[in-house]
Amino acid sequence: MGSETTAAYDAHADWYNDFMSAAAGDYLRRVHATLGDLLGPGDGVCLDVGCGTGAHVPPVADLGWTPLGVDLSVGQLRHAARRMPVAVADAARLPFADGALPAAVCVLISTDVPDYGAVIADIGRVLRPGGRFVHLGVHPCFIGAFADWSDRPRIVVDQRYADRAHTYDTWNPHGVRARVGGWHIPLADLLNAATAAGLRLERTVECGGSAVPDLFGFAAVKD
Ligand SMILES: C[S@@+](CC[C@H](N)C(=O)[O-])C[C@H]1O[C@@H](n2cnc3c(N)ncnc32)[C@H](O)[C@@H]1O
Repeated sequence: MGSETTAAYDAHADWYNDFMSAAAGDYLRRVHATLGDLLGPGDGVCLDVGCGTGAHVPPVADLGWTPLGVDLSVGQLRHAARRMPVAVADAARLPFADGALPAAVCVLISTDVPDYGAVIADIGRVLRPGGRFVHLGVHPCFIGAFADWSDRPRIVVDQRYADRAHTYDTWNPHGVRARVGGWHIPLADLLNAATAAGLRLERTVECGGSAVPDLFGFAAVKD
């Protein structure tokens, strides 16, 4: 099964563009710092898979890479096109030849596709040997329909952790999930997808605004 779904973000692209700029504040700074740390310096094209509005062009370009974005949502790409070259494409059917690219990043899309493993598999296909992949997303153990952060510092994780179905359930009526819903990929499945794609894990990172991490990422290299 591929990952393509309807371009749910078309209706929310202007909102998302604002949401991932000033309004995201510390969160966006943390995403950028973690992404830059995992990606490291380099040159050549860095494919931003599910690039959205292109919010992460600055940290990628600052490291020497040439960002190139793909996304399913034309509405999102309207914003991203002001920041980098873009193309409409399904993340699980990337319009690149096998082994064509030196680097790819995938930021905050693991809950936006029904089969994130298929996305990682296709990234593994288009990376050249030695190519670099950075995944950064919501922490699979602590962010999802199964996790209630409304009574912080207590965070309640319930048995829906095992449920991969699409849902709009969320404790937070103001976030992305309330607008477009989300899927879920458990931690082990996420890491196993990388190794199944021929990607060797180099480093993993958990980070958050409190002791409980809300972001999880890894850097991997195509063998
Ligand atoms: C939460 S946004 C993240 C955007 C950007 N990476 C960021 O961090 O701001 C998720 C993005 O994934 C895109 N997306 C969802 N399914 C996709 C697919 N099958 N192929 C490509 N992009 C997809 C959406 O259109 C949306 O722009």
